[in-house]
Amino acid sequence: MALILDLLLLLGAASSALSAPALVKRADVPQFVKDYAPMVWLHSEDPYNPSDLATHISHTQPENNFTVVDGAPSPLTVDNLNSLNNLGGTSIYLTSKDDVTTNPSWLNGQSPDSSGSTGNAITCAVIVNDKGDGNVDAFYMYFYSYNWGGEVVVLGLNVGNFDDHVGDWEHNMIRFANGTPTYVWYSQHANGEAFKYDILDKDTTNSLRPIVYSANGSHANYAISGTHDHTIPNLNLPDNGILDDYTDQGRLWDPIASAWFYSYTPSPETYTAYDGSSPTGWLYFNGQWGDQQYPDSDPRQTELFGQAKYSSGPTGPRDKDLDRTNVCPDNGNDCILRDVLGP
Ligand SMILES: *[C@@H]1O[C@H](CO)[C@@H](O)[C@H](O)[C@H]1NC(C)=O
Ligand SMILES: *[C@@H]1O[C@H](CO)[C@@H](O)[C@H](O)[C@H]1NC(C)=O
Repeated sequence: MALILDLLLLLGAASSALSAPALVKRADVPQFVKDYAPMVWLHSEDPYNPSDLATHISHTQPENNFTVVDGAPSPLTVDNLNSLNNLGGTSIYLTSKDDVTTNPSWLNGQSPDSSGSTGNAITCAVIVNDKGDGNVDAFYMYFYSYNWGGEVVVLGLNVGNFDDHVGDWEHNMIRFANGTPTYVWYSQHANGEAFKYDILDKDTTNSLRPIVYSANGSHANYAISGTHDHTIPNLNLPDNGILDDYTDQGRLWDPIASAWFYSYTPSPETYTAYDGSSPTGWLYFNGQWGDQQYPDSDPRQTELFGQAKYSSGPTGPRDKDLDRTNVCPDNGNDCILRDVLGP
């Protein structure tokens, strides 16, 4: 009897061992998400490169109203960042331990090598929302440790700069239908532009990959090189050319060469690493990735046309409308699907 039981147990173990690989088999990153991934031209004069997420976190401390948060894990990492959600969440700012006016070198991130890779510095996260029926939105999230807002020029004179902040999340989103790219979203400041994939410039070595120009300092994403006027929020001035973004073919960055890849479902909000090991905790963090806007009483702070020189750091990928209806974020602005290239 005991022998028969043992045999049955052995048989059971053997059969579950046989079926186990099928059960734990993970989905692979859809090949088209890699094949059509954007290539990004960083500006030739931009000292603020794509930045390693873990390094960024290690140079910050969580603050709420300019006070260090009690009870946060130490060290804070890409694995446990979401534990801050119970300690203040949206009011928490990952605040530079260094005074940013002293230009600590970690703000400069990692310049890509000759192949476009930032090496061990993980500077991008790819988040794939498979909506079924062949409809897939792939988000290419770009991270920079610092945003320099640019010079404001009035009557040909530089009058100052504003909108500098620690931490900068930008993105492209490619909407696929049955593995074919249709439209590409380019994030720019509070909004952005959507272009038809077919009209976009493509990488010269891989003709499938659309070209993106990252603006000097602000890292707003554009489809063409050159100068891009962008208006001052809530302020109408008679001329253009006051606050411009500059793009050029500085250094070529291949964001997916050093990236983590995740699949995403909206409800319940879930991120799953395709490789089963890339960290997911940081994706659930609902606070800000840089310092809170310094108060007027802070000697570093100045104002220009009512805009602060130092503004607050941004929220992370989860706040970028990952389950959007249109190619544009569902932010109330018109979603123009452009079929002509432009600034
Ligand atoms: C690019 O940004 C740097 C500061 O980060 C600035 O010194 C330089 O003049 C800018 N270049 C252009 C063309 O805007
Ligand atoms: C922030 O801290 C200051 C004192 O440091 C206090 O006066 C103010 O009420 C606090 N604000 C909030 C929203 O807690």
